[in-house]
Amino acid sequence: MQKEKRKIVLVGTGFVGMSFAYSMLLSGGCDQLVLIDVNKEKAIGEAMDLQHGLPYAQHKIDIKAGDYDECKDADIVVITAGATQKPGETRLDLTITDTKIVKSVTENIMSSGFQGIIVVASNPVDLMTYVAQKVSGLPKHRVIGTGTLLDTARLRYMMSEYLGISSKNIHAYIMGEHGDSSFVPWTHAYVGCKKLLAILDETHRDLNDLQNIYVQVQQAGYEIVNRKKSTYYGIGLSLNRLCQAILKDEHVILTIAAYQNDEYGQKGLYIGVPALISAHGVEEIVTLDLNEVDQQKFNNSCETLRAIIKDTID
Ligand code: 2OP
Repeated sequence: MQKEKRKIVLVGTGFVGMSFAYSMLLSGGCDQLVLIDVNKEKAIGEAMDLQHGLPYAQHKIDIKAGDYDECKDADIVVITAGATQKPGETRLDLTITDTKIVKSVTENIMSSGFQGIIVVASNPVDLMTYVAQKVSGLPKHRVIGTGTLLDTARLRYMMSEYLGISSKNIHAYIMGEHGDSSFVPWTHAYVGCKKLLAILDETHRDLNDLQNIYVQVQQAGYEIVNRKKSTYYGIGLSLNRLCQAILKDEHVILTIAAYQNDEYGQKGLYIGVPALISAHGVEEIVTLDLNEVDQQKFNNSCETLRAIIKDTID
C-alpha cells in the first residue's frame, strides 16, 4: 500500500469518528480523508471544521465530506457508525440496532467496488466486524475490528502507573471480547524483556493488584459512559494506531478482532487476539500457549459471542 495518496473514508461522524479524524489531522497519517454520515449536513460541517485547522497541521490532508462512491479507491474504510451505549447498557445490548446499521453501511461501501481494508469500531465490535465481513464478502484478513486494542492501551497505561515504567515497555495483552468476558494472559506479560510475574515476585508485589487493574480496565468504558455519556478519545487514537499500521505496512503486533481459524482452538468468529498487522491486513494471528485457565476464559468469551451470532446475526 505504498501508493502516492493514502486514502481513508470514515463512515460515521459522531464523537468516535471525529476523534479519529482529528487525530489523523494531527498525525498526518493519510493524504485524503473523506467523511460520510447519514446526516450529510453534519459530515459537511465536520469536514469544514477540520479543514479550518489545516493551516496548523504538519501535513497537508485533503479533507472533505462525500458519498459512498468515494470508497472505490480508498485504502481503508473505517466504520464507526452505530448507536451509543447508554449508562447501564453493555456493548452487547447494541447488537440488534448496530447490526442493521453496519449491514447497510457495508452494502453501500461494497457497491462502490471497494477492494481495500475495512476497519470496524462500532460496538459490539467483535460482532460488528463479523457482520461487515459477512456482508462484504471480503477476505477475512481484510476486515479487522478494533477488538481489545483500546483495552490493551488502558491496561498498559494503568500498569505503567503502577510499576513506574513506561507503557512502551509493557508487553501485556487483553484478549477475548471487547467487553465483559475479556481477560489478560498474565503468564505471557513482559516488562521490557523480563517476565512480569518474576518482577512481582522480586518486588514482593501481589498478583491481586494486577487483577484489580484488570477490573478497572474492564469497567473503564462503563465508568466513562456514566460520567460523560460516551467514550471517544481512546478509541479514536486506537483507530489511528491501527490505520497507520496498515498504511505504513508496519508488521506490528496489535490486539485486534481477527477472524479465528483454529489458532486458539476456535473457528468462525472475530475476537480480540494479538496479530501481526501490515498493508495486507492481518498477516497472521500470534498464537500464545495459553494455560488451562486462560484457554477456558478464551473459550467462554467465544461462546458468549457465538451464542449471539447464532441467535441474532446469522
Ligand atoms: C470503550 O470501551 C465503550 O467500547 C467503548 O470505550
